[in-house]
Amino acid sequence: MPLKRTFLLWFIVTVQNATQIHSKLEFTNIECTTVDKKFVDFEYCYIKAVNRSYKYISLKANMHELPLVEPSASLQILRRFRRYTPVTLNATIDICKFMSSKKSSRNPMLIIFADIAKTYTNVYHKCPFDHDLVIDKMPTSYLNQQFLNILFLPPGEYAFYSSWIIKNVEKAQIKIYATLSWD
Ligand SMILES: *[C@@H]1O[C@H](CO)[C@@H](O)[C@H](O)[C@H]1NC(C)=O
Ligand SMILES: *[C@@H]1O[C@H](CO)[C@@H](O)[C@H](O)[C@H]1NC(C)=O
Repeated sequence: MPLKRTFLLWFIVTVQNATQIHSKLEFTNIECTTVDKKFVDFEYCYIKAVNRSYKYISLKANMHELPLVEPSASLQILRRFRRYTPVTLNATIDICKFMSSKKSSRNPMLIIFADIAKTYTNVYHKCPFDHDLVIDKMPTSYLNQQFLNILFLPPGEYAFYSSWIIKNVEKAQIKIYATLSWD
């Protein structure tokens, strides 16, 4: 094997091992908040710990005005110093455009978002959305991997804030909290 390639392989393996061995993301809380109860309410929204290694997130949002018209979302990762302070841009996405373009985004947070939507929700399809929204048993270990492989963040307390918007009016918020530690 040429030296360059050997080095590259070594580098990849080392970095992967480093992230797998030394970093740990522990989900501590999830909050689902309705801003407009006539529009949406959450039937359930929780993190369940089955055992030490298997935790998952499930939620169901019951939608009362379907189909969704001009849905968009703003997504942001924050880190706690004294208070939660943004560490990523507040990315706003037009959900219909996002779901209809199969081009992958360059924004790492949106890559994770698309991957989650595809694997664990019933929303990975083109508009219109004319049904309730479900996240079904998304393992926190999966998020863990996604975050560690795609976003390189130092240890600390983090929050993922998402705001769900219809025709420029906020309807709901979902916030997920986690602690990132290095062993
Ligand atoms: C945790 O629970 C899952 C699902 O029931 C099971 O597959 C897994 O083996 C369990 N792990 C441990 C360490 O008990
Ligand atoms: C992100 O932007 C949206 C839309 O401008 C706004 O409603 C939301 O409050 C912002 N989020 C944060 C955490 O600043």
